Amino acid sequence: MKKIVINGGKPLSGKIGISGAKNSAVAIIPASILCDENVKVYNVPNISDRDALIDILNLLNCETMVKDDMLSIDTSNVINKKIPLELSKKMRASYYFMGALLSKFKHVEMFFPGGCNIGKRPIDIHIKGFEALGAKVTINGDLYTIDAEELVGTKITLDFASVGATINIMLAAVKAKGKTIIKNAAREAEIVNIATYLNNMGARITGAGTSEIHIEGVDYLHKAMIEVIPDRIEAGTYIILGAMIGDNLKIDNIIPDHINALLSKLDDMNIKYELNENNIIISKCENIKPTNIKTAVFPGFPTDIAQPMMVLLTQANGVSMYEETIWESRMGHVKYLNKLGANIKNGNTNAVVIGSTPLHGCEVEATDLRGGAAMVLAGLIADGTTKIISIEHILRGYDNIIEKLKNVGADIDLIEE
Ligand code: EPZ
Repeated sequence: MKKIVINGGKPLSGKIGISGAKNSAVAIIPASILCDENVKVYNVPNISDRDALIDILNLLNCETMVKDDMLSIDTSNVINKKIPLELSKKMRASYYFMGALLSKFKHVEMFFPGGCNIGKRPIDIHIKGFEALGAKVTINGDLYTIDAEELVGTKITLDFASVGATINIMLAAVKAKGKTIIKNAAREAEIVNIATYLNNMGARITGAGTSEIHIEGVDYLHKAMIEVIPDRIEAGTYIILGAMIGDNLKIDNIIPDHINALLSKLDDMNIKYELNENNIIISKCENIKPTNIKTAVFPGFPTDIAQPMMVLLTQANGVSMYEETIWESRMGHVKYLNKLGANIKNGNTNAVVIGSTPLHGCEVEATDLRGGAAMVLAGLIADGTTKIISIEHILRGYDNIIEKLKNVGADIDLIEE
């Protein structure tokens, strides 16, 4: 079994370069099959979700090649096939093949996707969108069969500004007849990146990044390239770490506008940093003030950074309130933070964090991707040795996390035990 072992308490200095955004890349890769020629995707993070999506592309007869952070995909011979259970279940983002295959072939067979266990994660909003475009969706247990004679643009108002549904409907609508308008669309930075990619292929999408997206259907999508935006969640994770044990730790290759919600909380907490055009330099703060965190859709405080943020709250002098509003069970990390010495009282979606508490190394579990990142941060600030199990969650989403942290002075290793 793979484990991460950390001997904590070492100050971190030097530079951590941020990789491409997981949540952009995992949509960009499936979106590639819409192209009728070939594509090149740059700044792709080296994470296991990337590899699982490439396995699906290969199943669909795409030729793929990874060179450093570049992924080239020849989609000219793509075929339609049922995506088997084990590939569908490997991650949540497999569901972007629903929108992409529907658009390309008007027929999809795949299973309900996998992903972190942080709530029920229904896909009803996606399905409603496909149906509004003219598709017929048949659900048999976990198997989804989606068919359409033709897809016709229409106005779709999302019940909730879902990231996944916005992207999936955008994919399905790219080649639909006429105009599709998505109202109450999600506004996350990743959505803009994916719309730009599709437009680079010749799609006609406007309004991505606002709550109303317009898509004028086109017939053919030509060769294109795209650069994946920097991962704002990875950046946030390391910035939080810098506030606890940084010694002029530089987090490089960031887009400051994408992390405003986090920076504003750091300001509230008396944490100082130097923000430059594409990097931030941050050091340990000796007197962290408590604050309240309530997750929200973009541009609010991101749910994906909230679990790492809770580690910082344990180091604040006083009581912080924490509320998770997007996912109904994203509190798996709390039990293990308490095991490390934190003082957190929690319900299903709320917590009270009483700080500051020193943390002491012990064996903990990565209950999900960001909960796992929280364990890494906690282990790095704790005294003694922390062992983290179930680390495959972390490797799904953090590019080269061990090497990046070692390079700035962390005593961290991946071991087989
Ligand atoms: C994306 O998930 C991200 N995943 C998540 O990141 C992130 O937490 C989430 O957006 C919110 O920002 C990927 O991009 C692969 P949603 P997604 O659809 O698209 C409900 C991480 O750690 N909902 O915006 O699945 C849903 O249950 C991951 O990197 C429906 O009810 O999120 C949730 O409560 C975890 N019906 C809320 O909406 C639907 O059809 C937000 O979900 C769809 C969603």
